[in-house]
Amino acid sequence: MELRRTEFPWTADTIYLNNASVGPLPERTRRVLDEFNRKRAAPFQLPDRELFATMAESRRLAAELIGAIPEEIALTINTGFGLSLAARSLPLRPGDIVLASDKEFPANVYPWMLLKDSGVTLELAPTTAEGWPDEAHLLDRLSDPRVRVLAVSLVQFSNGYTVDLARLSAATRASDTYLVVDAIQGIGQLPVDVTTTPVDILACGAQKWLLSPWGSGFVYVRRELVRELSPSVTGWMAFEGTEDFTRLTEYRDTLRGDARRFELITLPYQDFAGMNASLGLLLSAGIQRIAGHLQALHAPVLTWAARHDVRVVSPGGERGSGILCVQPDNVGEAFRRLKAARVISSMREGAIRLSPHLYNTVEEMERVVEILEEQQPR
Ligand SMILES: Cc1ncc(COP(=O)(O)O)c(C=O)c1O
Repeated sequence: MELRRTEFPWTADTIYLNNASVGPLPERTRRVLDEFNRKRAAPFQLPDRELFATMAESRRLAAELIGAIPEEIALTINTGFGLSLAARSLPLRPGDIVLASDKEFPANVYPWMLLKDSGVTLELAPTTAEGWPDEAHLLDRLSDPRVRVLAVSLVQFSNGYTVDLARLSAATRASDTYLVVDAIQGIGQLPVDVTTTPVDILACGAQKWLLSPWGSGFVYVRRELVRELSPSVTGWMAFEGTEDFTRLTEYRDTLRGDARRFELITLPYQDFAGMNASLGLLLSAGIQRIAGHLQALHAPVLTWAARHDVRVVSPGGERGSGILCVQPDNVGEAFRRLKAARVISSMREGAIRLSPHLYNTVEEMERVVEILEEQQPR
């Protein structure tokens, strides 16, 4: 695989299956960062025009990735910013309930929990016996008029469960409930199209599946909602006309009509320049193709697990994703063996989490099986 060699040269001696923690930077992205930082050392080499063009390109690419328009994208430094924006900007009143699933990643819990002070309750719905979000229960709870927000991860961090976004989207539209999505574990490995599956707010850091620098990310706000929401923390370029630096103290009181009203400028320009290179790579590889590739990569591990009756924590089929979690006997020892053999994965909630990406190969997954076999001789 040419891309593997040129963009991820370290794959020659390391099997990296940890995109759900941190995605690697492709070489082209690293070069962009180096070049940007070289100019940054002498900042007159980076005119404002270039900085703003970089950000405009980031909004365009993020929009392309999810079927949105750039006016619906605000650039952010992480997922938490977008989720906090949702928690602080949606018109919630005392007595309202925010519904989420138990076992969500904390980034999608704490911003909602903080609303307790304003009389808004976070209800954590019990998971299914498998530990996955119980979508039937969540949908059932939407009939309670106090439930004003459904906040879900597109893909669960600890088991790779992918919600049925189309179903949640239809149900929240029908019950007039806001649908807020933490998409960091899904975008880049699964196709998402907000035109066909509308959501209200979608937050996504780019440091994992989008193979982008820490400090880059975005939040999508559905276009009809953009003008209805005010930012609860604000930056000096969130207002109309503020790009005219010759008249900065003619303070304007009109927020921008697009999602830039939610941006907290100044942002890390170098990281967005890097993100642009990574998104370009992913879009040209094709997200649908990446999703198919990841399913093929899982096959050797799934076959091994079935043969040895090893618990697979992740769902398969439509509810699955690129994240595959397995729980062999002596899971801690198995994890250490993988690590000793330069196979990088994570332990999450008692299982080994394997999260490959486009540059991984079936041979690498077969090597994982070999190492796990040593552990599980039956
Ligand atoms: C579901 C989920 N949300 C959010 C994050 C990270 O949030 P942030 O981008 O704010 O650091 C992670 C991973 O660390 C995650 O798995």
